[in-house]
Amino acid sequence: MNASLLESIRTRFSVRKFDGRCVDREILQICLEAARLAPSAENSQPWRFLILDDPETIRSFGRSAFSGIYSLTGWAASAPVLIVLLAEPDLIAGRIGKWIQRLPFYLLDMGIAGTHLVLQAQSLGLGTCWIGWFDLRKTRKFFGLPKGIKVCGMIALGYPQPGQPVRKRSRKPLEELCRFNSWK
Ligand SMILES: Cc1cc2nc3c(=O)[nH]c(=O)nc-3n(C[C@H](O)[C@H](O)[C@H](O)COP(=O)(O)O)c2cc1C
Repeated sequence: MNASLLESIRTRFSVRKFDGRCVDREILQICLEAARLAPSAENSQPWRFLILDDPETIRSFGRSAFSGIYSLTGWAASAPVLIVLLAEPDLIAGRIGKWIQRLPFYLLDMGIAGTHLVLQAQSLGLGTCWIGWFDLRKTRKFFGLPKGIKVCGMIALGYPQPGQPVRKRSRKPLEELCRFNSWK
């Protein structure tokens, strides 16, 4: 029987060390398909995925995006795959959401799509780590991204190096996070 979704969520952890194996494009395709099917505000599907699976491109990009104060993220240049999460917010869900509702919906949409991708990857035996600490300006420059495209983060992906200690981060208890029917 398949592990329950909650069990998968419980056992997921951020993987920053990968074994040497490449990830087949067919496998990547399944993870990207899971992201593609995510819900989004007004079904605007703002996500765009820039997939790096060429080691030399990853290394060269890493030298640029993970330099200086971002060198803490240098480990990511050794990942077999880096997925740069891009968004092209549309007029209604993107701009109106921001102006009227004061909520950049596209960021919510990107988080949901990324989560689909991460959980699908896990179910295929892959490890992932979200990356928010990188040089945004150099990333834009490296890929020559046009103005309308936002860079929302990255996901490193690959087969986890065996034997690494699982450093599970603690989580706040539910009682601290939830209130029913009123926020008083
Ligand atoms: C939006 C976001 C950005 C993150 N950025 C980074 C990062 O730049 N570098 C890093 O090593 N981990 C990063 N992480 C991973 C978190 O540190 C990690 O998810 C958190 O500590 C909980 O640990 P766990 O994923 O092992 O449960 C990021 C996670 C999220 C969701």
